Amino acid sequence: MTQRIFNFSAGPACLPESVLREAQENLLSLGNTGIGILEHSHRGKAYMAVHEEAVALIRELGQVPADYDILFLTGGASLQFSMIPLNLLAPGETADYLVTGMWSQKAVAEARRVGTVHEACSSADRNFSYIPAQCQFSARPKYVHFTSNNTIFGTQFPAEPAIPASIPLVCDASSDIFSRPLDVSRYGIIYAGAQKNLGPSGVTVLIIRKDLVAQGPRDLATMLQYRTHADENSLYNTPPTFGIYVLGLMLKWLKAQGGLAAIARQNEAKAGKLYQFLDQSRLFRATAEKGSRSLMNVTFVTGQPALDDAFLKRATREGLDGLKGHRSVGGMRASIYNAFPAAGVDALIALLSDFEQSHASAA
Ligand SMILES: Cc1ncc(COP(=O)(O)O)c(C=O)c1O
Repeated sequence: MTQRIFNFSAGPACLPESVLREAQENLLSLGNTGIGILEHSHRGKAYMAVHEEAVALIRELGQVPADYDILFLTGGASLQFSMIPLNLLAPGETADYLVTGMWSQKAVAEARRVGTVHEACSSADRNFSYIPAQCQFSARPKYVHFTSNNTIFGTQFPAEPAIPASIPLVCDASSDIFSRPLDVSRYGIIYAGAQKNLGPSGVTVLIIRKDLVAQGPRDLATMLQYRTHADENSLYNTPPTFGIYVLGLMLKWLKAQGGLAAIARQNEAKAGKLYQFLDQSRLFRATAEKGSRSLMNVTFVTGQPALDDAFLKRATREGLDGLKGHRSVGGMRASIYNAFPAAGVDALIALLSDFEQSHASAA
């Protein structure tokens, strides 16, 4: 087998080796069924056990209250940009959006197709390098939407935004779901593509308050109604069975790490080390403002595009892959989600340090 390298990809992202090995074993036969996980009917007993276990683990790890449904959908987080307004917003009604990056802009664009969007805050003035401290909400928004972690710009809400009482809070948590403990009861909907913190691409996890499920219009296309999926335990049609299986393995791995509080400590330690290095570096600097920095996506630059390129080339040669930043920020981005090993962060810091020394005159 080719040696595995450190994969800093923003998503799909690296998975724990133990998860990959278990998936590999069950490709040929899930347990002793003689049928591989890819081949099991989604209506059969073997797959149902996998499905139920994944739901139960999300409920357990996230301490999800009984008045919330847990759904597995397809279409990525991007489909949720549309499904949320289609289910919660009627023409003429207003929803408030906190605009902190490209993904929240995309969510706004889809909501505008359905109703009125009020931008309660925006950090576009400084290229989304910070999380605004204040929001101006509209009189009675149907819901407030925010992106808890901005994958491209390397910023993250340190905590949930304060919003008007009794308005549902809707969160795109695609790039930080289950990276730290959260109080689900503060949310109306939490949604995330699984492919960063929770498993493979192809499955979107949704935690949604039951009264919001019930609220959706019944004349909406069947597959776009939350109730369709909630009523059938995400088995109205064929779900992404393999994705849900690997999601379940990833949740078991998270539980074995000690749950969300324990994984949060690991994530803080990994990101903390990297920011500490960047803050004392004479060559590299973090692009996100202090107080808004993401523990998941650490974005940084030298300030000289040619040097950034030289660094990226060297990193690739030395087995540190996926570090190129998004074109709207440039430079580098280290995505260090739940499954990313601490040893990879150490290897990156060693390389940054060595590169800095060999380019001392450029600093
Ligand atoms: C914060 C955030 N929201 C939404 C998306 C889009 O997710 P998907 O590709 O699952 O539609 C991404 C993808 O990177 C993301 O980082």
